[in-house]
Amino acid sequence: MHDLRFNIPGQDLNLEPFALRAPDFQKKCEVMITDRGYKCRITNIVPLSGQERLFLLRIVDPLERELFNFRPGQFLMLEVPGYGEAPISISSSSSNHEFIEVCIRRAGHVTSALFEARQGAIVSIRGPFGTTFPMEQMKGRNVLMVAGGLGIAPMRAPLFWIGNHRDWYKDVRLLYGAREPSQLIFNYQFEEWQKVGNVTLHTIVEKPDDAWQGRVGMITELFDGFTFDPEETWAIVCGPPVMFKFVCNYLDGKGIPMNRMFVSLERRMHCGMGKCCRCMVGSTFTCLDGPVFDYWSVMNLKEAI
Ligand SMILES: Cc1cc2nc3c(=O)[nH]c(=O)nc-3n(C[C@H](O)[C@H](O)[C@H](O)COP(=O)(O)OP(=O)(O)OC[C@H]3O[C@@H](n4cnc5c(N)ncnc54)[C@H](O)[C@@H]3O)c2cc1C
Ligand code: FES
Repeated sequence: MHDLRFNIPGQDLNLEPFALRAPDFQKKCEVMITDRGYKCRITNIVPLSGQERLFLLRIVDPLERELFNFRPGQFLMLEVPGYGEAPISISSSSSNHEFIEVCIRRAGHVTSALFEARQGAIVSIRGPFGTTFPMEQMKGRNVLMVAGGLGIAPMRAPLFWIGNHRDWYKDVRLLYGAREPSQLIFNYQFEEWQKVGNVTLHTIVEKPDDAWQGRVGMITELFDGFTFDPEETWAIVCGPPVMFKFVCNYLDGKGIPMNRMFVSLERRMHCGMGKCCRCMVGSTFTCLDGPVFDYWSVMNLKEAI
């Protein structure tokens, strides 16, 4: 006998799979597939400044290590056993399957516990989560990268990507600003980015010390030093939200459309996978629909920045 319970008008589950009509549901399912923990060993800890360190993580299981894939812009949930989890951007090359690099600022509970960890300690990661920078769509164009302070951490993955696909892009520029010279981290890689990656680097600090010979001021002052064709240029902007407004409004004034500027938005997160609603701005999940957004979408998200 025909079962009437499954005959709801407009909801013929047999004809059209539910997931196809509910993209958000499907997205969550995809995310849940990636929601597995990977045990990692901290193989190296590189001090970058008084507050920031680079941690090299190696997934313990060789097969999991080989299969772990991410794209520039994505983040992971890093768990320090006994202390909890924090969302952290992946700061390494997506082609490197041996190590995952994360650049961490000591902020609170979890990050302080991590700063106590020694080489060889075991931590756990979940992910990768979130949206990515549109590296393929930028093919054939100039890329203007603007990083303020710790914004250089999420910027490293697209930088590595560009280094690996340098012939895809035309002019690539990195504008990098910090409060003090000692806060310009990864300065040991500046030469590599310029000579090997063919990236033009401009740096600036707000408060110089006696040894600083470079530019002094806000990051937007670096725009004085060069010109770009707005028709041919895409932008990636990472840093404190207050910086987005100044940088993106400047670029908008110069003619780069807002949907060709990409920012990485940080919100407090708990699950990282669309379950807890902790990261929501309006009806948008920053963990699923972000952290990478085009600036047009950010402008239309109330109280996003
Ligand atoms: C997608 C994403 C990527 C991130 N990438 C990095 C990274 O690469 N490196 C890094 O060091 N940090 C990163 N963060 C920030 C990091 O997750 C927070 O600093 C986190 O709270 C640290 O955990 P904790 O337990 O040490 O600090 P907590 O004890 O949770 O908080 C410490 C302090 O930080 C404030 N805080 C917490 N989260 C945020 C936030 N999202 N925005 C502003 N203030 C906050 C709290 O109000 C509190 O004052 C990222 C956050 C997001 C959402
Ligand atoms: S962090 Fe839980 S829904 Fe986004």
